[in-house]
Amino acid sequence: MKKFLSVALVALTMMICTACGSSAEKPADKTEPAQVEAPANKILVAYFSCTGNTKKAALEVADILKADTFEIVPAQAYTSEDLNYNVEDCRANIEQKDNNARPEIKSKLANPAQYKTIVIAFPIWWGAEPRIIDTFVENYDLAGKTIVPVCTSGGSEIMTAEKNLQALCKGATVTSGKRLGITSRDEVKTWLDSLGL
Ligand SMILES: Cc1cc2nc3c(=O)[nH]c(=O)nc-3n(C[C@H](O)[C@H](O)[C@H](O)COP(=O)(O)O)c2cc1C
Repeated sequence: MKKFLSVALVALTMMICTACGSSAEKPADKTEPAQVEAPANKILVAYFSCTGNTKKAALEVADILKADTFEIVPAQAYTSEDLNYNVEDCRANIEQKDNNARPEIKSKLANPAQYKTIVIAFPIWWGAEPRIIDTFVENYDLAGKTIVPVCTSGGSEIMTAEKNLQALCKGATVTSGKRLGITSRDEVKTWLDSLGL
């Protein structure tokens, strides 16, 4: 009888242990919880700058927004002769006169899908965005994204570039833009806050 009781006790203990063990395992008939996708709400500041003004303004915006940055580097760098707009047929002037000019960019964004908002910073050339900005926006599917144009210039405003980008950024929302480099950091921050990015 004593022997029978101890055998029964061992069997009972084994049954309890087995039950405990299986509860810690993934039940075979339950499906995996859905994968939680990384929120696509990151902000990128992409900038093109030949003489440093736009770079400085763009990095300030990136700092305020805690955004990633991407420099739009031309495959063929612009020399000072290329930028000498007093010479009628300098490279920059030739490009700006040609709506279809698309100067090549050295590298592409690694993962554009992760950005919901892209701030695009550029100098004004002949009243508008440099053609390389058109190359940039046409390189990606921007549908559903918010595009924020910002510029630096010797005095010209951003409206023409803003209008051009609205036409080129298919399916994207292009916000009103801003001319930077003449505004304090606080003013830039207030404007960015007003966009509710
Ligand atoms: C080819 C060329 C055309 C320009 N056209 C204009 C213009 O139409 N209006 C203006 O206010 N500034 C114009 N600028 C001045 C630049 O917009 C200004 O210097 C800008 O801040 C340069 O930016 P970056 O230093 O980032 O290259 C022009 C400059 C270049 C090189």
